[in-house]
Amino acid sequence: MKKLRLLLLLSAIIITTTLCAKSFDDMVSKAVKLYNEGKYQEAAELAEEAFQVGDPSMDHYYNTACCWALAGNKEKTLSQAIDAGWLDAEWMQADRDLTILHGDARFEELVVKVQKTLDKLEQGLPIKHNSLAIIELPEPAYDSDTSIEKALKERRSIRKYKDKPLSLSEISQILWAAYGITKPIKDAPAFLRGGLKTAPSAGALYPLEIYVVAGNVTDLPAGVYKYKPEGHKLIKIADGDKRTELYKASLNQDWVKEAPASIIYSAVFSRTTDIYGKRGQERYVCMDLGHSAENVYLQAVSLNIGTVAIGAFYDTKVKVVVNMTKEEEPLYIMPIGKI
Ligand SMILES: Cc1cc2nc3c(=O)[nH]c(=O)nc-3n(C[C@H](O)[C@H](O)[C@H](O)COP(=O)(O)O)c2cc1C
Repeated sequence: MKKLRLLLLLSAIIITTTLCAKSFDDMVSKAVKLYNEGKYQEAAELAEEAFQVGDPSMDHYYNTACCWALAGNKEKTLSQAIDAGWLDAEWMQADRDLTILHGDARFEELVVKVQKTLDKLEQGLPIKHNSLAIIELPEPAYDSDTSIEKALKERRSIRKYKDKPLSLSEISQILWAAYGITKPIKDAPAFLRGGLKTAPSAGALYPLEIYVVAGNVTDLPAGVYKYKPEGHKLIKIADGDKRTELYKASLNQDWVKEAPASIIYSAVFSRTTDIYGKRGQERYVCMDLGHSAENVYLQAVSLNIGTVAIGAFYDTKVKVVVNMTKEEEPLYIMPIGKI
């Protein structure tokens, strides 16, 4: 079981209000407690009882399979979790709760099944994006009343937002802080994409791509947009409000669904690894990401906007929701909303 999953399971339980769901949640909550006490058999039995009165998710099924495995039962498999949409083959193989199943032929078959589903989803991803619309972003502000010291002092991960729209100017400002061009270079080589940016980048190779999943932004119809630092604009790549899908892809973290918009970071690793190899893979790309994401955190303080860097999600599901190209890997989701 993943610690974050446990946390999310508990917070979902606290929030749920319907009577039937409450008894289901009470039982699941008790099962989680039993799991934490090492009473795996009891935990699994109680969870299965709960499934008779509620609506279990793939995480419920997965965690119950973990309990069975820890209780020494090899007969209970992960098939229910997989049928309910579980898609993390890597974690199944790494999860120490499932050690007893690793190497078992039935388990390995399930890993192959999940991997096949993942491969199919990946195959459906585009090689290039079609532009549905181009949105010129408002000119960002280059000054404010918030000192850098104040922004550093007040920066926090914030997971509760007002139910109010963001403005296009606020989106523009956040994107500029993330990866906006601060030193345009005339006739710059393609990899510079217009010039040097707000965030440093190993070799100025800029492996990051930034998307906006917009649901409630004034003057920006709901949809998925890709940020183009050159020209400071957005390219619309998908229609419709994708926040609920993104929330499901990010382990049901409520703040993803509730924020008016999220920015999503991906990286084309080869831009950096073609030059720097293993060092680029293991260090530079994520260092680049950290620089840019911290800019977002600090800019958010000055705009009275809350955000949180989210690293826990299903990679392939996020790629599908955002309609990322095949060559990209998703790295962070940062919901943004007024506080
Ligand atoms: C790599 C990384 C991954 C994170 N993933 C999540 C996440 O999935 N969900 C979440 O709510 N917060 C996530 N956080 C935010 C941390 O929980 C948060 O930074 C930490 O609790 C410290 O709080 P602060 O940012 O307010 O100082 C992540 C932070 C980092 C740096």
